[in-house]
Amino acid sequence: NKATLTLSNGKVMPAVGFGTFASEGASGETYAAVTTALKTGYRHLDCAWYYLNEGEVGDAIQDFLKENPSVKREDLFVTTKVWNHLHRYDDVIWSANDSLKRLKLDYIDLFLVHWPIAAEKDGQEKPKIGPDGKYVILKDLTENPEETWRAMEKLYEDGKAKAIGVSNWTIPGLEKMAKFAKIQPHVNQIEIHPFLPNTELVNYCFSKNIMPQAYSPLGSQNQVPTTGERVSENKTLNAIAEKGGNTLAQVLIAWGLRRGYSVLPKSSNPKRIESNFKSIELSDEDFEAVNKVAEAATSAS
Ligand code: A2P
Repeated sequence: NKATLTLSNGKVMPAVGFGTFASEGASGETYAAVTTALKTGYRHLDCAWYYLNEGEVGDAIQDFLKENPSVKREDLFVTTKVWNHLHRYDDVIWSANDSLKRLKLDYIDLFLVHWPIAAEKDGQEKPKIGPDGKYVILKDLTENPEETWRAMEKLYEDGKAKAIGVSNWTIPGLEKMAKFAKIQPHVNQIEIHPFLPNTELVNYCFSKNIMPQAYSPLGSQNQVPTTGERVSENKTLNAIAEKGGNTLAQVLIAWGLRRGYSVLPKSSNPKRIESNFKSIELSDEDFEAVNKVAEAATSAS
């Protein structure tokens, strides 16, 4: 799948990205998955400081580039994100540099604020946990993330991040940011699949030249609250896949691409890593049928 999308600053991004979140953290699973993904042809990797496996991603990139001299660093698009306890100006800069070191890169293609929540830290490496077992929220910095965004802008100006953005942001959060941002976010990465189509937010982002990216595009963990049905169990979606001789995942990825945004499937299974990257044609009729499933799920939830 060679489709690309262009961000508001002109930076070109491969539309399909490979998600690197691994439940096992640093276990070797990520190295193997990223290596398979790069060999398959994925050129866009979606990482995060929080995933605790950037070192493995970096090793996989280095080894792949060494073994495939025709592929250059510039051919890759690597995203990473700053975690909640590192939202202070100096900490954002620290986090970007820490990620760069682990990824063994000298710039990040896209750097995102992982969540619109600022939390206290317990040293650089971990968030502070309060007596209730939860993160200790920094109310002021959460309410007003200007300090965080200034650091993101600095990284962009210094060329350490070729694009900057946010993740899990809502419309009110984006509107607030628009008032103080000197550089508007290029991307908002959010969960999108037929059971959580996020249509209003997606349309808002497009209207502001903010490129949406869909995480959990296969909706594997999600169900319609009222019926308990999972995306993978939906009859209409499965019928569309079967009729075309495609997998359900291919239909879900094609649906997101046809809606115009970037899609970030993840898998640790080599066969699924490969089949997810194969682009399929989604007819107008099938596209509308998936839209209908999305509308029904939205009104049922
Ligand atoms: P696996 O690693 O065993 O392939 P999401 O990104 O929507 O949260 O989904 C990720 C989950 O979906 C992973 O657990 C992954 O499991 C699974 N998955 C990825 N590709 C496919 C596919 N083509 N068919 C079924 N499940 C898939």
